[in-house]
Amino acid sequence: MYYQLALVQLLLLSAIDAAANTPRLLIISLDGFRHDYLNKYELPTLNQFRNQGIRANNGMRPTFTTMTFPNHISIATGMYQEDHGVIHNTFYDRRLNKTIGMSSRDEGQWSDPSIEPIWITATKQNVKSAVLFWPACHNEFNGVRPLIYTSIYSDAVPYREKIDSAIRYFRELPIQLVMLYHFEPDKQGHAYGPDSPEVRDTLFRLDNDTKYLLDRVKEELNDDLNIIILSDHGMTNVTKVVRPIFEKYLDRSAIESTILSGALFNVMPRNGRTEEVLRNLSNIPNVTVYKRDEMPERFHYSKPKHRLGELTALPDIEGQILSEATTNSSYPNKGNHGWDNTLPSMQAIFMARGPSFGKSVQISSLNNVDIYHIVCQILKLNPNPNATAGSLRNLTQIFMPIETSTSTLSSSSSAPSTSTLSSSSSAPSTSSTTTPATSRSTPMTVRTTTRTTTLASGADRFVFHRIFLCVICFVALFFTF
Ligand SMILES: *[C@@H]1O[C@H](CO)[C@@H](O)[C@H](O)[C@H]1NC(C)=O
Ligand SMILES: *[C@@H]1O[C@H](CO)[C@@H](O)[C@H](O)[C@H]1NC(C)=O
Ligand SMILES: *[C@@H]1O[C@H](CO)[C@@H](O)[C@H](O)[C@H]1NC(C)=O
Ligand SMILES: *[C@@H]1O[C@H](CO)[C@@H](O)[C@H](O)[C@H]1NC(C)=O
Ligand SMILES: *[C@@H]1O[C@H](CO)[C@@H](O)[C@H](O)[C@H]1NC(C)=O
Ligand SMILES: *[C@@H]1O[C@H](CO)[C@@H](O)[C@H](O)[C@H]1NC(C)=O
Ligand SMILES: *[C@@H]1O[C@H](CO)[C@@H](O)[C@H](O)[C@H]1NC(C)=O
Ligand SMILES: *[C@@H]1O[C@H](CO)[C@@H](O)[C@H](O)[C@H]1NC(C)=O
Repeated sequence: MYYQLALVQLLLLSAIDAAANTPRLLIISLDGFRHDYLNKYELPTLNQFRNQGIRANNGMRPTFTTMTFPNHISIATGMYQEDHGVIHNTFYDRRLNKTIGMSSRDEGQWSDPSIEPIWITATKQNVKSAVLFWPACHNEFNGVRPLIYTSIYSDAVPYREKIDSAIRYFRELPIQLVMLYHFEPDKQGHAYGPDSPEVRDTLFRLDNDTKYLLDRVKEELNDDLNIIILSDHGMTNVTKVVRPIFEKYLDRSAIESTILSGALFNVMPRNGRTEEVLRNLSNIPNVTVYKRDEMPERFHYSKPKHRLGELTALPDIEGQILSEATTNSSYPNKGNHGWDNTLPSMQAIFMARGPSFGKSVQISSLNNVDIYHIVCQILKLNPNPNATAGSLRNLTQIFMPIETSTSTLSSSSSAPSTSTLSSSSSAPSTSSTTTPATSRSTPMTVRTTTRTTTLASGADRFVFHRIFLCVICFVALFFTF
């Protein structure tokens, strides 16, 4: 009798313990959300959110160059662009003889095991994740994929549909990490400029959608969810377009490949023509031209010789763009980004709230390469040893102090533990198929493509473990009474 009781207690405790120690995290990236939009507009939900949780008064510093694809990979890997190798939105890889962009299928570019997005770190440590529209999430990393991912980059899906999916995953599956990317307010910022009414309206819509998210988290997840809302870079007015770069300053036949989008112009000259190209680039007004090895160290933008060209021209003036356009009207963007990652206009947003975070904590700023470590801390993951660009050194105050967090957890442990157990035990029936993500309610293009065998069996093992615990508990209880 004593033995059985002890067994029941042990099992119940371990079940409760497992549930109570199962922190969950939603990361939302809102593309091109310039940091000071938050000060310029009285966005009620977002401003209340950051005042209640972690508020970064000067925003979050992107990595250089301040573009979307590279910064999402820096956020996900905790690495500088020169180390993870995604050096622009689109670039040519000389080793693979392939142009790589946000929609590229994996064809060898993710085979270096030391480059590991956080969802891969999590998957390898048996923490389940869903990654929606985050750049590169549709790729296999060294043979590993998250439990759920969208199969192609798209800007056709409304923010609320992505929110609906995230909530559903947390409710129905034993998922601990959801990462969700949305393409606004970047799109409006490019088309109409950062100060435009179009951007303002988009920000208020995003704010309202965030309210919808928080209401659902409160009602359906008992508010037991950590949420980070961040962005990849800022946005500024395009004030001067220098064009056309080619006919006017450079002979195309001297160039093997270029990267020209956003503020940076990176050039791979053909053999033997580097000095000549350097001289010509230097004739462009208001730019500084660097050889790859002479790029300022703080940019961390010189290592990948197979992807970066030998020369980089950077505008000296924020807002200046170099363009291939040959007519005045053929550079349509009113807003852009890509300039120096220390400029105030290029700073991104960061705010966080939830049971693992402190309340009403203000910090000055953080680096986006720190996010990887914040996620590891919350989900109790061992970080990839190559993720050395960021750290938690200046961020210890953003987490809930240990004493407080254990008491919070134990006080709320009974409710979430039962709900976690029941939701996870109902999961296998729906998730044993290859499409746990798609449900009748969403016509969205989110497709959960087939999982690898290891992942599927990993997910099932997790659920089986929980069911096994429950069954043992009931059997033990039965014999006890
Ligand atoms: C690179 O790929 C193209 C086709 O995509 C091919 O024509 C060319 O020969 C390849 N170059 C090298 C060096 O392999
Ligand atoms: C916010 O969204 C709700 C629906 O969730 C809608 O009814 C309301 O009109 C929206 N408010 C604004 C200001 O757009
Ligand atoms: C950007 O351009 C708009 C419209 O031309 C102007 O009103 C605004 O002041 C500019 N913003 C900055 C930061 O220069
Ligand atoms: C450099 O500029 C000169 C003068 O415009 C031009 O003749 C020459 O072809 C250019 N060379 C390269 C490599 O672009
Ligand atoms: C831009 O270049 C022009 C011509 O070289 C020069 O007169 C001007 O001072 C430069 N502006 C800045 C802000 O450097
Ligand atoms: C193009 O713009 C420049 C100055 O920005 C102006 O001098 C020139 O006349 C314009 N050309 C046309 C065809 O509009
Ligand atoms: C990862 O770290 C190892 C050991 O320091 C190093 O040899 C390797 O180049 C690193 N990989 C990357 C992509 O930085
Ligand atoms: C921490 O903050 C101090 C003071 O703001 C700064 O000098 C230091 O570089 C920061 N360290 C890291 C690792 O970010």
